[in-house]
Amino acid sequence: MFSADTYIKRRKELIKILNNKGLLLIAGNNEVPVNYPGNIYRFRQDSNFLYFIGIDLPGLTATINTETGETILYGNDNTVEDSVWTGNVPKLKDWAEQSGFQKVRSFSKLEPDLNNTSQIHYLPPYPHDRKILLSEIFKKTIPEIDAGYSVDFIKAVVKLRSIKTKEEVSQIEDALNRATSKFHIAAMKMALPGEYEFRIAGHIESTMLKNKCTPAYGIICSVRGEILHNVNYNNSLKAGQMLLIDAGAENELHYASDITRTTPVGGKFSEKQKAVYEIVLEALNSSISKIKPGITYRQIHLEAAKIIANGLINIGLMKGNCEEIVNAGAHALFFPHGLGHMLGLDVHDMEDLGEDYVGYNNDITRIDQFGTAYLRLGRSLEKGFVLTVEPGIYFIPQLIKKWKNEQKFKHFINYNKIDDYLDLGGIRIEDNVLVTSESNQVLGTPIPKSVNDIESLF
Ligand code: GLY
Ligand code: MN
Repeated sequence: MFSADTYIKRRKELIKILNNKGLLLIAGNNEVPVNYPGNIYRFRQDSNFLYFIGIDLPGLTATINTETGETILYGNDNTVEDSVWTGNVPKLKDWAEQSGFQKVRSFSKLEPDLNNTSQIHYLPPYPHDRKILLSEIFKKTIPEIDAGYSVDFIKAVVKLRSIKTKEEVSQIEDALNRATSKFHIAAMKMALPGEYEFRIAGHIESTMLKNKCTPAYGIICSVRGEILHNVNYNNSLKAGQMLLIDAGAENELHYASDITRTTPVGGKFSEKQKAVYEIVLEALNSSISKIKPGITYRQIHLEAAKIIANGLINIGLMKGNCEEIVNAGAHALFFPHGLGHMLGLDVHDMEDLGEDYVGYNNDITRIDQFGTAYLRLGRSLEKGFVLTVEPGIYFIPQLIKKWKNEQKFKHFINYNKIDDYLDLGGIRIEDNVLVTSESNQVLGTPIPKSVNDIESLF
């Protein structure tokens, strides 16, 4: 945990924004069973709970009274019988003290206390057990609970969590340096013919555990990099393929990292691989160079899409004018996702609160077009944001086949040339970037990304 002062300060800031708005309810997560109640998934505390309270234990809920400033932690101490299985766990009052909480009450008091309160705000519940708890407390159906979250509360949390303090940036760098930079470099060197994806993924996950970290999301480690969220590791690596690894650790305080590198199997780029890789690298470097307060991430995304379209024109896969290609959305055949997202306690930071509240506002709304519609962060950047930059080019057989059959954007796409590139799979390069007062800083120990630096690893 950070010191109690950090959590007290965060709660005070929250009260300042939501002054006299009633009672704020911040629910923690519970243990989730895999196949029977006693066999559970690795426990992961709710990130809003981590941010405002910091106690990394299941079975807790907190309230903050914005009128009186009173904070109450609800939960139950372990019994002696529980401790047979868990060992001695500190008493809740000791945890509460570490977070600067004034009062601890038994969990059974939560319902009567809330029933005696008129104005209660809660954040969108995503775990099913939380929906059930709120449904029982408020005597409402689950759809009513789903719809009953507080927009004011969401906006206040987004405002605070979007700006990372120095101590938070250090935590993200800790996740990067303690594990993520190390395993990426080692895993890139493992990209040899005859190696297996599962062995490389195993090395990645074990490096996290050996360094007191856990995966911030499902490790992607595949020669089928065109499958964007591919979490299967069954393939062996063959010469001529590219290995895409998108993996990031979260550290003990649960701050995340999110890095992608793509390496030619055997360590030497073919001319074709190099040509496509250099386009993605240019999109990455050019995007990073533009990051500073005041510029919208949507603009940087669209400019990255133009760099990709222009590069694909140069190698003969697209034709026409890159501005028109991007306006029409034709680039999305090769670059069907957004340039990046916020990063913090969640890998897609605050996504539980609603992507549009996090990444957009009244000035910048989401573009409803295949590809750019998946951009999670569109709004104007501010000092203290930490975000990912992750352009990519993919050859997705089923999407290419569908568009080709429809002759979609045939004025922009050379369908007869694409077949030559289908074995390339997908290339993505991703870094984590802090917005500073004038420009930006790429976080963490550098991980090779130029063609020369990658080839030099072998
Ligand atoms: N690292 C996976 C993603 O950003 O979706
Ligand atoms: Mn990412």
